Parts: sequence; structure tokens; C-alpha cells
Amino acid sequence: MPFEQPQTNPTVLITGYTDGLGKLLAINLAKRNFHIIIHGRNQDKAQAVIEELKAINPKGKYETIICDFNKPQEIADKFGKINTLDILINNAGVWAEGNTVDITPERIIELVNVNLLACLIVTRVLLPVLKKSNFGQILNVSSIGGVELPSGYFHTIYTATKFGVQAFSEALAKEFDNSNIRVMGYYPGGMNTKFFKKSGFDYKENEPWMFDPQESVDAMIFMLTRNPKVNVKRLDLINHLQ
Ligand SMILES: NC(=O)c1ccc[n+]([C@@H]2O[C@H](COP(=O)([O-])OP(=O)(O)OC[C@H]3O[C@@H](n4cnc5c(N)ncnc54)[C@H](OP(=O)(O)O)[C@@H]3O)[C@@H](O)[C@H]2O)c1
Repeated sequence: MPFEQPQTNPTVLITGYTDGLGKLLAINLAKRNFHIIIHGRNQDKAQAVIEELKAINPKGKYETIICDFNKPQEIADKFGKINTLDILINNAGVWAEGNTVDITPERIIELVNVNLLACLIVTRVLLPVLKKSNFGQILNVSSIGGVELPSGYFHTIYTATKFGVQAFSEALAKEFDNSNIRVMGYYPGGMNTKFFKKSGFDYKENEPWMFDPQESVDAMIFMLTRNPKVNVKRLDLINHLQ
């Protein structure tokens, strides 16, 4: 699929590059000669991904930003050092489920910081840089949990943060309507990543109802590669066959 962006080798920043969906997207974009800025919270993990990307495309350009999104006061300083960017993908996220009263206040702060606040601040800091691009794009990874209310089991705090990402994406798309910045929201269902397990929940990495994150990568590349005259403003990729 050709990349419709005016730039030949666009610069992309994906938050939460070091695992799961972000890492797989990085691998796919490295094959397309993107200049990739890797964000992670752990230097060793980020360096390991860079080595992987270099092995895939030794001619690619790769940089890292290390920032723990649970320390949101550090975001502006660290992301403020970026001066060229065409595509921002807000992808970092953490999970929590169960009764709201069982989620500790510290964990609530972490979910809001990583899933929502970081998305708002990173975007705010990078908007002036994206405006300088011929065609800037922002793709926010929310979740189907940020569109539909669950029934039978609950992840209320997560839902609140991801609905926030939906509201931000929709409002920002309006704010930048008919401009050189295209804003999109992506809403996936359950995927095979370590997402749930890493948050301490007893899921296998490959539950029968989960789909391969490559499906998400393909969907996101579809969104990013549309002609600048259109906007796949939102895309829900929900679980179907189990
Ligand atoms: N997996 C699903 O079923 C699913 C469904 C719907 C939506 N999503 C959304 O998809 C996105 C990617 O999730 P995933 O499945 O790829 O999960 P993942 O494999 O756990 O990746 C999440 C990424 O976020 C990073 N991250 C977590 N806490 C952070 C912090 N405090 N500071 C900076 N980075 C932090 C992780 O870093 P580390 O590598 O250091 O952990 C990792 O790179 C998330 O926004 C998630 O909400 C996932």
C-alpha cells in the first residue's frame, strides 16, 4: 500500500514502543523506511527494540525518548526536545479491572497518568512541531472499552480513561478540521499482547477471543495512508469469531 503522505520518509513517534502493539507497529514502519522515534520507560528495553529495528532495516533512522508517563511533570521537558515530526501515535497504556473499590488510589492515578494525561500533554507539546509538517497526523489508541460500556465484568477506571481519549480525539479532530493536521482515534478489542498479564491479571497471552495485534497494525496503517482529503476519524476493530 503506498504511503500517501507528502514526505517520502516520514518521522513517526509512537508512545509505548517497547512492547505489544507499539513494538509491532514500529517493526512494520521500519520496513517502510520511516524515521522512528522510540518512546519507552526503560532504556534497556528501548535499546533492545532499536537493535531489532536496525536488523530489520539498517538504513532506517532511530532515536529514543525515555519517559515514565506515571511522572507526567517530566513529559513536557523530554518531548519538548523533538523538533521534527510528521506522525504522533499515542499508544502507551495500562490495564485494570474488577470492582472499582478494589483499585487502589495509586493505581487510579497511574491509569489516568499513562492512558489519558500523557496523551494530552504529549499531544500539546508536539502540536507546534506537527504544524510545521506538510501533513501532520495524530492517531490516538483508545480501546473498544473507550466506546462501549462493559457488562458482566467491569473495568470502570480504565473505561473512564479510554472514554477520555475518545473525547479528546473527537474534539481535536474538530479543532483541526480542514487543516494540515489529521486527527484519528483507533478503538481495538482484545489482542494477544502481555497487556493484561503485565497488570497482574490472570489472562493467557493468547485467549481464544483475542485477535493478532498485526490486525491492529494493518488497520492503523490503513488509517495513516489515506489520501489527505479524507480522514478515517475513528475505527472500531472489535472481536468477532472466538
Ligand atoms: N491488548 C489489548 O487487548 C488492548 C485492547 C484495546 C486497547 N489496547 C490499547 O492498546 C495500547 C497498547 O497496548 P498493548 O496491548 O500493546 O500493551 P503492552 O504490550 O503492555 O504495551 C503497552 C506499552 O505502554 C508502555 N507503558 C506502560 N506504562 C508506561 C509508563 N508508566 N510510562 C511509559 N510507558 C508505559 C509499555 O511499556 P513497557 O514495555 O515498559 O511495559 C508498553 O510499551 C494501550 O493503549 C492499550 O490500552 C489494548
